[in-house]
Amino acid sequence: MPLLEVKDLQVAFTTSEGDVHAVDGVSFSLGEGESLGLAGESGCGKTTAALSIMRLLPKNGRIVSGSINYQGYDLTKLRDAQMRTIRWQHISIIFQGAMNALNPVRRIGAQIAEPIKLHEGVDDEVANKRVGELLELVGIHKDRAADYPHEFSGGMRQRVMIAMALACNPKVVIADEPVTALDVMIQAQILELLERLKRELGLSMILISHDLSVMAETCDSMAIMYAGKMVETGSVRDVYKNAKHPYTKDLIAAFPDIKGARVLPAYIPGDIPSLVHPPQGCRFHPRCKFAWSLCEQEEPALVDLGGGHCAACHLNTTERRE
Ligand SMILES: Nc1ncnc2c1ncn2[C@@H]1O[C@H](COP(=O)(O)OP(=O)(O)OP(=O)(O)O)[C@@H](O)[C@H]1O
Ligand SMILES: [Mg+2]
Repeated sequence: MPLLEVKDLQVAFTTSEGDVHAVDGVSFSLGEGESLGLAGESGCGKTTAALSIMRLLPKNGRIVSGSINYQGYDLTKLRDAQMRTIRWQHISIIFQGAMNALNPVRRIGAQIAEPIKLHEGVDDEVANKRVGELLELVGIHKDRAADYPHEFSGGMRQRVMIAMALACNPKVVIADEPVTALDVMIQAQILELLERLKRELGLSMILISHDLSVMAETCDSMAIMYAGKMVETGSVRDVYKNAKHPYTKDLIAAFPDIKGARVLPAYIPGDIPSLVHPPQGCRFHPRCKFAWSLCEQEEPALVDLGGGHCAACHLNTTERRE
């Protein structure tokens, strides 16, 4: 049984223009000790899915339907008090952009100690000892607990964020774009750190990125989102080496190998559709080179093409007749 299983999740934000259906029927599962890469272009709903798992959606957001099963509990149904025992101690998150949101006037040791004291009710001495251990775990000397965020480079600040996410010994860590703002050399170091922690601590991990080459290096399985929908899931080998959805193929082509020289990424022509009034049929059809009339009319289901490799594209299931 998977450790975490998201089933048919729908999440909406209330806005003056109408409901934004940011996550619209998303399913995936995460096994114990496994890492899953969640990918897709900006605005496809990756962060919204992550915040839903943590039950930390902004005020105008709500889970409309679906379930998030964790060790036999449906997180969408837990009361706030119950959810507080899950959050950070079972499932934690490295928030997108958080390394730039550290409190500039507080020593980093104090910032890491805060959740430990709050959730585990330990005194300063115990918390500070744990801060030292956490810093060493992420490759920072423990004496640097007394330093302020501006005394750290971007990569080191991201290490601090990783230490914070590990503060309460979670089983699942969600890392939302943990390397996006860093340069390529540092990206590789942070990814290596995440991999090592996963291995040594037996963590399960959800790695969010718009860059598939990052995932192919780091993850066991992949889930590709487009405009709030899941379009392809499966092992890295299946999805990255044998993509079955035209969007996945375009995404792979747009991000050259992480080790190669990274010129400006090619982009996928066309615009991301409105999530207030999404296109009929397959949401990708206005940008898809292979679209035909069926794609405009009927939404393709996510179908298992064998061995757990799933894709939602008519090309895989229906013979094209025109
Ligand atoms: N609080 C909000 N109110 C209204 N719409 C929102 C809110 N938060 C996110 N959205 C919208 O929901 C959609 C999904 O956003 P989300 O941040 O989950 O995307 P993402 O895949 O994480 O993108 P990125 O790669 O840029 O981080 C977008 O259209 C976004 O504009
Ligand atoms: Mg995001």
